[in-house]
This record gives sequence, C-alpha cells and structure tokens, in this order.
Amino acid sequence: HRYCVIMCGGIGSRFWPYSRENCPKQFIDFLGTGRSLLQMSYDRILPIVPKENILVVTNEKYAPLIREQLPDLLPENILLEPARRNTAPCIAWAAFHIAAIDPAASMIVTPSDHLITRENIFEDCVRRGFEFVEKNDALLTLGITPVRPETGYGYIQVGQEAEPGILKVKTFTEKPNLELAKVFLETGEFFWNSGIFLWRASTIIDALRKHDSDLTVRFDRGASDFGTPREEAFIRENFASFPANSIDYAVMEKADNVYVECVNFGWNDLGTWSALHDNSPKNEQNNVAQNCKVLAYDSTGNIFAVRDSEKLVVAHGLKDYIVADAGDVLLICPKSEEQRIKQMVNDVKIAY
Ligand code: GDD
Ligand code: MG
Repeated sequence: HRYCVIMCGGIGSRFWPYSRENCPKQFIDFLGTGRSLLQMSYDRILPIVPKENILVVTNEKYAPLIREQLPDLLPENILLEPARRNTAPCIAWAAFHIAAIDPAASMIVTPSDHLITRENIFEDCVRRGFEFVEKNDALLTLGITPVRPETGYGYIQVGQEAEPGILKVKTFTEKPNLELAKVFLETGEFFWNSGIFLWRASTIIDALRKHDSDLTVRFDRGASDFGTPREEAFIRENFASFPANSIDYAVMEKADNVYVECVNFGWNDLGTWSALHDNSPKNEQNNVAQNCKVLAYDSTGNIFAVRDSEKLVVAHGLKDYIVADAGDVLLICPKSEEQRIKQMVNDVKIAY
C-alpha cells in the first residue's frame, strides 16, 4: 500500500539563470555526480517504495525530460499538469489518483530538488514515518533542526511527544519574515519543514476537504473519472482553473493533526546560490567554481558558475558574489541580495 509522489513541476527561479523555465534545477546535475537532483530523489526512494508505486507529478512541458532522465519510471506514473498551480493541486491530484487505485494507500510526498547526504538514515526515517501514518490519522512532516533564520522555509513549533522522535505540531508558519524567523530560532522550540510529507491518501484528502474546499469541490467533480481512462481528459479540461496555492498554506498551517518526525539525514534544500556555495568544495580563497576554471585575485567567498560553455573566469577584487553564466544570460549579484533573484526573473520577462 506504500506510494511515493515526487513533485517535479517547480521552476527553481531562485537559481536563475542556471535554472531556466525550460530546464529547472531538478533536472540539472548540480554536484557533478552524473545524476540530476531528480534522479537522485528517485534513486533514494527506490529501496523503500516499489517502482510501480512511484509517481512523478510535473508540468506537461517537462514530459520529455522526465522520460529521458527516468527511463525506468512507468509511463502511466507520470502525471502531467497542463498549468502551474503550485503544490496543493499537485498533491491533491496525486492523492485522488492514488486513492482511486488503492483506497488504503499511504504515501510519501517529496520534492525533486533537495540534497540528502545520509541515505541509509533517510531510509529508516521514511519507514518509521510510514508506520506512524498507517496507524494514525496524521499529516506527518519530516523536520530539520534549524541553523539560521532562513525565511524561505516553513517553521514548525513542537508540542508533546506522540512517540519517541515524533512530536505533535503546535503551529506551522510558512515563510515567516526575518524578525519572526530570528525569534523562532532563538526559542529552540522550532523545526524547519523539510517539505517531505507522509500521510494516507484518505487523510490528506480529508484535510484538503476541510481546509481547501475550493480545491476539493473541483476535484470532486471528476471523482468518478479518477483511476479510469477519463482522468487525463478531466485534468486537461479543468486543472488550469484550479486555485493555485502551496500545500503549506492550504493545509499545513491550518490542520490540527500535524506531526513532525525529527530527522538528521544531511538534508539540504539546494534552494539558493548561497546554499550551493555552502555545500560545494571551496578553494583556499573560499571561492566555488561550478563547471568552470577560475583565476581570482583578491577575491573571496564567491560562486562562479558557467553552464553551457567552456569559460575561464578571471576576477579581481570580488567579494561574496554570485557570477552565473547560462545560455544567453550572465548574472552578477551579491550573495546577500540573492532573495531578489526571483524578482529579477520577473523583471527580465517584462523587459525583454
Ligand atoms: N508538480 C508540481 N507542480 N510541482 C511543483 C509545483 C507545481 O506547480 N510547484 C513546485 N513544485 C515542486 C518543486 O519542483 C519542488 O520540488 C517542490 O514542489 C517544492 O516546491 P518549492 O517551490 O521549491 O517550495 P519552497 O521551497 O518554496 O517551500 C517548500 O519547501 C521548503 C523546504 O525546502 C515548503 O514546503 C516549505 O515549508 C519548506 O520549508
Ligand atoms: Mg524549494
């Protein structure tokens, strides 16, 4: 009864221009291991969930990339969204789809663009998580001990222990502002939401019904189509009109049956250039060269990345910068301003 849903439809805009709309970061081999982040996510779940129960939900434009990168994935296990609606509709569709096939199913929902370094610990944690949600009506998230006041994550305040290592969640706050994130960090009562969730398909459908009825009424219109050949047409005709929202705002902040399993498996959301800098080998000057040669004078703490060409980067007097060259774009931006990259991507769309 165990399923896995890999969410693979984001555009990774904070990693622009390396991550582009036609090839977002989950499809890129960031660490030079020969496997993209998506392939690594798939490899890591294979020992836990049978291959025929692994699904990938993505935008229809990435279908060729998925088939190329995951040739073993069953073709019918690729769910193609005709529009980008964020993670709530993605998860709702997967849950309705799976529940139609197996009403007693439990599922792990995982992003496709994270790094996990200790895979054997990951495996144990996920098995425990499955056992917990199979016997409890729980929405379980895997929680990470926070180390900095990061504003791009969800923060989980914990209460009573339900069983060793699994705690009841008191509050869930998605992407707090910096002041709040600092307070959360100082109290020591909070975990980061890893964005990896476990639940039974029926539990998340009930939670969506309760907290995002706008979305569930729309899915209910296709109730008799799920698990039949009519499902695809229903999605093609209706999905784009579904309200966009992330599961964190739609359900996790509101539900009262949220639990967290505290994990320590070398999780890293390679979400930003700084995160990549932190996780890459650095030279004596604390510079990172991604896919390029660098000659640097009086330059420290930079990340130099070149995607599509062979280039020697020569720099002088540059401190804590991102220099990223991909396709027709060259980005030069201080690391401290990287949260603005999302905005820059939008400005570029308007201006060019
Ligand atoms: N299929 C599909 N469709 N997948 C999507 C879509 C979509 O419209 N939008 C995003 N995804 C995928 C992304 O590719 C990624 O793998 C995952 O869903 C999470 O989306 P992000 O956009 O990366 O979310 P986030 O990083 O802002 O926040 C989430 O992750 C954090 C940890 O990394 C939240 O769950 C936070 O609470 C959490 O801390
Ligand atoms: Mg993310």
